[in-house]
Order: sequence, then structure tokens, then C-alpha cells
Amino acid sequence: MIELSTYQQRRLRLAEQMQGGVAVIPTAPERPRNRDSVYPYRFDSYFHYLTGFGEPEAALVLVAGAAPKSILFCREKNPEREVWDGFRYGPAAAREEFGFDEAYPITELDAMMPKLLADQPSLYFHLGADSDWDARAVGWLNAVRAEVRNGIAAPSAIRDVRVLLDEMRLIKSTEEIAALRRAAEISTAAHRRAMQQVRPGRHEYEIEAELLHEFRRMGAQAPAYSSIVAGGANACVLHYVDNGAVLRDGDLLLIDAACELDGYAADITRTFPVNGRYSAAQKDVYEIVLAAQAAAINAVKIGASWDDPHQAALKVLAQGMIGLGLCTGSMDGVLESGDYKRFYMHKTGHWLGMDVHDVGDYKRGGQWRKLEAGMVLTVEPGCYIRPGEGVPESLWNIGIRIEDDVLVTAQGCEVLTLAAPKTVAEVEAVMEEAI
Ligand code: GLY
Ligand code: MN
Ligand code: MN
Repeated sequence: MIELSTYQQRRLRLAEQMQGGVAVIPTAPERPRNRDSVYPYRFDSYFHYLTGFGEPEAALVLVAGAAPKSILFCREKNPEREVWDGFRYGPAAAREEFGFDEAYPITELDAMMPKLLADQPSLYFHLGADSDWDARAVGWLNAVRAEVRNGIAAPSAIRDVRVLLDEMRLIKSTEEIAALRRAAEISTAAHRRAMQQVRPGRHEYEIEAELLHEFRRMGAQAPAYSSIVAGGANACVLHYVDNGAVLRDGDLLLIDAACELDGYAADITRTFPVNGRYSAAQKDVYEIVLAAQAAAINAVKIGASWDDPHQAALKVLAQGMIGLGLCTGSMDGVLESGDYKRFYMHKTGHWLGMDVHDVGDYKRGGQWRKLEAGMVLTVEPGCYIRPGEGVPESLWNIGIRIEDDVLVTAQGCEVLTLAAPKTVAEVEAVMEEAI
């Protein structure tokens, strides 16, 4: 639960970092209805980070300066629409409940913006995210420019407000870490449930349903991304989301799935045997990916570079691939040539937060950035072995990824998703319980 005062502090911090000027941060549009079907609404993460306000058709206007001012534009109350779509705060109640200085109907935004931008040095906005909003921003600017002969100056700069917000969002507060922890807890419970429900002959979608059951049962609003439930060869398709195949005895099942809770995401992958026991070949590959993940997690600490965990994982994977007969030569040679990319073609992680691929630069001034306390990232090495020339047949169609969510701490790091079974012994024991 994020306190009201936290949102107010975030707005003040943003205002402090702006060099004067006015920021406009709109929320996300609603998904168009498919005839009369209504889809769940998901706010824009930047807007929500600054407001906590969950309704569509809203925008925050932040006027920086000696006495910063937060103005919410939102839908008016509408008793008839509220019968169909639910409660709306309306500007007066929203101002009160969410602690804004002022609030107005969203229909007044275009008329008020030229006045708010008059004599301001800059407009902080994210150009290019939404063409309708871009057009509105150009309209406001042109309306102020039309007033030059009346002695009014138009902003001379448009700055990307997200550059400031990305840095703020990158370091997670105690409240945010608590939300991430809870999203992780629900998601790990879902992975345990999936392990206990899987049987040869069941479909991938039946296991997906078990995951969704656990997410919703425990109060998560939605999956944080489309669940990947990929049996056998499907695990070698990185963005597999069909989830329609039958699970076969002797195959592995790769599940990359996690929930979103109160605007914060988890992101977890586990790979386990459909029949409850890893085969010798599956275990050989699994232990390499697990060791690569351990090496990467070990590299997560304050002051390490963003790329250190990836490099640590690559070394273990390259050595492992040589041992498995997938690559030839020395570890350095395999790293140098990039031969490992045939079997491991993605990076070892990304920032995690309100968005599953969360915001924040990975490089600063051309250098990988240094890890700091409060950053949260995924660590997700894998190995995907498609049938092919020179590939030992015993390894064909083995696709494995192991993904955890990791918080950088003063002591090193904390894995938030440890409760999802991971070692061969843990996974087999949890699956055994269910039989
Ligand atoms: N589930 C998305 C990812 O692992 O990056
Ligand atoms: Mn991920
Ligand atoms: Mn994932």
C-alpha cells in the first residue's frame, strides 16, 4: 500500500528536478471496446507513480517553481455512466482524496493549458508516446505562441519528462519493495501450484488456468504479462504464448508467468519435468543453467556493473555448452566468437518494477551503469537447444530458463522469488508431494 503522502512527495521531487516549466503526464487510454465487451483498464505507470489515481481520461499537470502546484484533470461525475461503468471521483473529490492543489474536468484541459504554459520556460512532456496527445500538446504551444504580440512568451523548450521519472522509478522505496515482495509471493505460489497440477496428457492451457487461479485467488489484479506455458519443443520459442499443446511424458515444461499486484510486477520462470523426474540429459542442461543463474545472482551487488551478472552467466553457460558438445574450443573462444548465441540469444535480465520490463537506463555516458541499493532486476539465463547439425540428439528440444527477481541491498542482494522451487531436488520433491 503506497501512502498518499508518498505520491505528494514524488510530485515535489519531480518539481524540484525540473528547471521551472510545466509537466503534463497523461494516463493511458482505455482499450477500444470490441462491440460491447469491456476490457479491464490499466493506468499508465508514470501517471500512477505520481498520483495513485486509477481512472482513465486523466492527466496530471505539475507547475514547477518556488511553490510547485499539482493539478489533476479527470472525468466529471456522471450518475448515468456510473450505473454502467462504476464510481468516478469527479474533480472535487479527487482533489480532496488524492491531495492535489487543484482539480478540473478533463474537458477543460485544452482550454487551460495555454494559460498554464504562458511565460513558462519549458513544457515537460513525452513526445511520441501517443499521437493524439502529441497533437494536443502542439495545439497548446501554438495557442500560447499566438499570444506573443500581447507580450506573452511561449515555452522555448520541450523536455522529456520521462528522463527524470525513469531515474526516480529505478530506485525502489520500502513501500514499493513491499508491493514487489507480495507480487513475488503470489507468483511463487502459482508456480508451486503449477508444478503440483502438471501431468502427462494435460494441456498447456490447463496449467495456465492453474496459474491464473492462484493469481486471482490471492488478490492480484492480472498477469503481469502473457503467461508462457511451453511444453517440450515449445520452450525453444522465446515468446510462445499459444499455450495450446498437450504435455507429454518425458518432456520439460517451461513456465514464464507472474502477476501484477497494485501496479507492481513479478517475473518468474521455472522449468520442470512433466512427469516429475528430470531425465539425465535434461538434468545435465538444467544444472548448467542453474549454475549460470547462481553465478549471475552472486554478481548482483552495489557497485557492480549492469553487465556483470550477464558476463558471469555467460562464462558458466559457455563452459557448459562445451561440456555438452554444443560448442567446441575454449570458453574464451566461445565467448569471443559468440557461438553460444545459437543456444542462448537473450540477455540475462532487465529492470523490474511497475512494468515488467521496467524503466531506467542501462548505460550512462556509454558505460554500463553501476548497481545501487533499491534497484530490482531479473536474473534469467537459459539454454534453448533446437534440433540441428552438430547438436547431440539426446539434447534436441530441451529449452530451459530459470528466472528470479532480485533486489540490490546493502549486503549484496536478496532474491524475492526464492519460494518457487528451483533445485532439481526441490522441484522433484514438490512434484512428488502431489502424486
Ligand atoms: N516475461 C518476460 C521476461 O522474462 O522478460
Ligand atoms: Mn524477465
Ligand atoms: Mn519472464
